[in-house]
Amino acid sequence: MYSSRSNNASRREFLERSMLTTAAILAAQSRFSASAYAQDNFTPSVSPNEQIHVAVIGAGGRGQSHVGGFAGKSGTTVTHICDCDEKAGQKTCESVAEKQGGKKPVWVKDVRKLLEDKSINAVSIATPNHWHSLGAIWAVQAGKDVYVEKPVSHNVLEGRRLVQTARKYNRIVQTGTQSRSNPGMREAMEFIHSGGIGEVTVARGLCYKPRASIGAKGVYEVPKEVDFDLWSGPAPILPLTRPRFHYDWHWQYPYGNGDLGNQGIHQMDLCRWALNESRLCDRTFSLGGRLGYQDAGETANTQLVIHDYGKKQLSFEVRGLPTPDYKGAKVGIIVEGSKGYLVMTSYQSGTVFDLDGKPIKTFEGGSDAFHYKNFELAVRNRNHKLLNADVEEGHYSSALCHLGNISLQLGEIVDGGEVAAKLANIKGPSNVSEAWQRTAEHLKSNKVESYKIAVGPSLEIDSVAETFKGNEKANTMLTREYRKGYEIPSASGI
Ligand SMILES: NC(=O)c1ccc[n+]([C@@H]2O[C@H](COP(=O)([O-])OP(=O)(O)OC[C@H]3O[C@@H](n4cnc5c(N)ncnc54)[C@H](O)[C@@H]3O)[C@@H](O)[C@H]2O)c1
Repeated sequence: MYSSRSNNASRREFLERSMLTTAAILAAQSRFSASAYAQDNFTPSVSPNEQIHVAVIGAGGRGQSHVGGFAGKSGTTVTHICDCDEKAGQKTCESVAEKQGGKKPVWVKDVRKLLEDKSINAVSIATPNHWHSLGAIWAVQAGKDVYVEKPVSHNVLEGRRLVQTARKYNRIVQTGTQSRSNPGMREAMEFIHSGGIGEVTVARGLCYKPRASIGAKGVYEVPKEVDFDLWSGPAPILPLTRPRFHYDWHWQYPYGNGDLGNQGIHQMDLCRWALNESRLCDRTFSLGGRLGYQDAGETANTQLVIHDYGKKQLSFEVRGLPTPDYKGAKVGIIVEGSKGYLVMTSYQSGTVFDLDGKPIKTFEGGSDAFHYKNFELAVRNRNHKLLNADVEEGHYSSALCHLGNISLQLGEIVDGGEVAAKLANIKGPSNVSEAWQRTAEHLKSNKVESYKIAVGPSLEIDSVAETFKGNEKANTMLTREYRKGYEIPSASGI
């Protein structure tokens, strides 16, 4: 990858600047006086010099990364593990003890019980998506600061409610889009926002991530260690229809949001950041389907989404079947400007090209550790503005995933050959027809030639009210039916 001496120098300067800023804030924190907490309408979750007691909620794959981020660190101790799967919970307690010199956390099965414990300052939530907003709202109401995985919500309305709750109780709520803390990514965004590639008109998110079939739809046994009532939480209690209990809920709508809300939310968030838009969009459109195999999954493995922001567009492509890259990226973003384009091929590295495709600048640097540290910094300083991925940013990006899925779910099912003709009304700089042509070729290369696919309506959005204009059916999909005892509070009830 191209990299000039001056680019390296400026990158170094940027990294140094980032570290100095962090150091300055950390120094300030040691001088931090208790009176600063007077601005809080609530008891502080931690005093500046204390260890932050963290409870990790959800000890699956991602919960282990949270443990890695908070256990055995100078400023944080993992004191509790909450999981409704006893095996996962107990096993994680053992591994945390090893990381913390024998300090073994307490396993708690029920999140409500956990939140009664006043010794806990912060919780980090790595449960399935359908629990994120509710778990975070309850935690905030119990006085905890929260690191909640992406997407912050399972639907648009509960995401907004979480933001309102965080503000009302003055808690620090960070979401798990960790790219936002990586110096390489931050430098790239600064470059774009300062006009480095001229006027930005299109940001393309790519989630080209092959996913195999999850196995036949059937009726399967819930693992005996799992309290399924707790696991289901706000969702209805349904028969288990997928072979693998953990993780594969991503591909079933009552719990997950497909790859848009799994891998895709990271790139959706980066695209919105690149476009400098802190709101939902004006219009959304999606097409797609689950193609190439039939299994227990319901969500699309092939999807296009266009979010319209007037002169700018956010275009998103999900490909779950094997595919080559596009302009060097598979899971990444491509930001197009009047003077060049940026291709970020990971959460922290990428290259700017001029309009002739010549590389002119590179960006590099970061790891998940930066994001966990950023959370700690904001918690100690009682200031959500220090967060790189505040809950409201998380809400907007999560909502963009949900909006795409709503258009898709309202789609008309047509033959693949009819799609091109249906796109005539979807106008704008991202050129949806070209994106569809590439998608159809991709399907063909996977021997998917005769298929049905959903083509959604182009939905107009009131981005202030966060509702659809003139589509009541779509509006009902901004929320869900909550199971008794697991309701999201109303705005006046938080
Ligand atoms: N930021 C990232 O890069 C990143 C990476 C991977 C996953 N994630 C996110 O992390 C979350 C978890 O993903 P995963 O792959 O670990 O899923 P998983 O299914 O492997 O693990 C989820 C765990 O949560 C537990 N759980 C479910 N309901 C619970 C409840 N009410 N209380 C306590 N525990 C409960 C489950 O028993 C399970 O152990 C997802 O939302 C995913 O989007 C983020």
